[in-house]
Amino acid sequence: MAPLRPGALVTAMRAAAALLQGGGAGGGGGGAGGLSPPRAQAEPVAAAEEPFAVELKAGRTYAWCACGHSKKQPFCDGAHKRAAPGVTPLRFTPDADGRARLCGCKRTRSPPFCDGSHRRDPGRAAPPP
Ligand code: FES
Repeated sequence: MAPLRPGALVTAMRAAAALLQGGGAGGGGGGAGGLSPPRAQAEPVAAAEEPFAVELKAGRTYAWCACGHSKKQPFCDGAHKRAAPGVTPLRFTPDADGRARLCGCKRTRSPPFCDGSHRRDPGRAAPPP
């Protein structure tokens, strides 16, 4: 194998620098057709470490906050549009009047109802605003 000449090494270094800056050795790169960084996926945050006890009315439709950012917990106030794009509220309509425990930690596996998930990893509730 032949050793690199000094001029060839400089050319290789310039090409590498152009690639690192998003260009390309041929000058036609500039990001078009390149990879773009992945968008951050919004994660729900815990609104409380305990479920919310609420009175529900039969036939009324509720929107349970799934993102944890609503100031009207456990119900949606539209905060997810800004704070957690991609997370949407869960709409539900009870069949009967009655009390229910709606999830506050936002980790339940049976939304909107508490399934005890808050006991598995306590201390994750968001601080009060
Ligand atoms: Fe949390 Fe709408 S504010 S789902």
